[in-house]
Amino acid sequence: MILVAGSANLDFVVRASRIPSPGETVLGENFETFAGGKGANQAVACARAGGKVAFLGALGRDLYGDMLLHSLQADGVNTRYLKRVTEPTGAAFITVSPEGENAITVASGANNTLKPEHLPDLKGFKALIMPLETPMPTVLAYYQKAKAAGLRTVLNAAPATRLPEDLFPQLDVMVTNQHEIFINATDHDNYADAAQDILGKGVGMVIITLGSEGCLLVTQEKTVRVPAIPIEAVDTTGAGDTFVGAFLAEWMRGSTVEVAARFAVVASGLACTKVGAQASMPTREDILEELQSQTL
Ligand code: RIB
Ligand code: NA
Repeated sequence: MILVAGSANLDFVVRASRIPSPGETVLGENFETFAGGKGANQAVACARAGGKVAFLGALGRDLYGDMLLHSLQADGVNTRYLKRVTEPTGAAFITVSPEGENAITVASGANNTLKPEHLPDLKGFKALIMPLETPMPTVLAYYQKAKAAGLRTVLNAAPATRLPEDLFPQLDVMVTNQHEIFINATDHDNYADAAQDILGKGVGMVIITLGSEGCLLVTQEKTVRVPAIPIEAVDTTGAGDTFVGAFLAEWMRGSTVEVAARFAVVASGLACTKVGAQASMPTREDILEELQSQTL
């Protein structure tokens, strides 16, 4: 079983002619709500891609919390570790441009109540994934315990946050995008040097997602470039989360990191072709079909 720990948000999404600048008002279309939050997104992406997943997080005792709980369960995610708390369920306010780019403001609410003591006994778990929308002391405590218990540890370093130095040696894999990586690698202006800097802090492997350019897998010995599939981007919200969840699902089935990364790049490309975070995530069948059509 894979443990995903982190945030769950209800996403309020509006498509507009562009993302507003500070002080500006832009008129958009109808708003829609979607199940989101980087933690819940990664759990759903992983489950759809064929992983056995449990989600650890916190939801409010409100209608949004009920909606998010049901959507996780509908995707076969084990929710026995989900807490219901008095704080309101996390919410994200998302503007999407015609190019499919987004700007997101998160009201963390219940996500901020996830504590080190909420981590269950790790017996039976093979891997831990977390993004960074829950308190940093919780993130650090979970990775320390997971590493000590022999789990594979994969961090999604999003949203961009400066990480405590003690966290790096706990990580087998750090997945980061082309902007986030430079927050934790000082004085570097290229991916290779930035990744080596992070590896030097004790991380086993760095994966840099590059949007339409695919991704880079970097270890101390080698750098491998994995190409993306050509797509027409409608909404890139949740693309990074899809990558992380699909990568873990495939890797934990015994595939090599290269094969898992190719699977994840295809999954994440497919997620960009539809609106919404979880609503856009492909199933294992969708991903395999696309992979096959790419190799024909
Ligand atoms: O990564 C996308 C997610 O970021 C959205 O679903 C939103 O909830 C924010 O957490
Ligand atoms: Na999407």
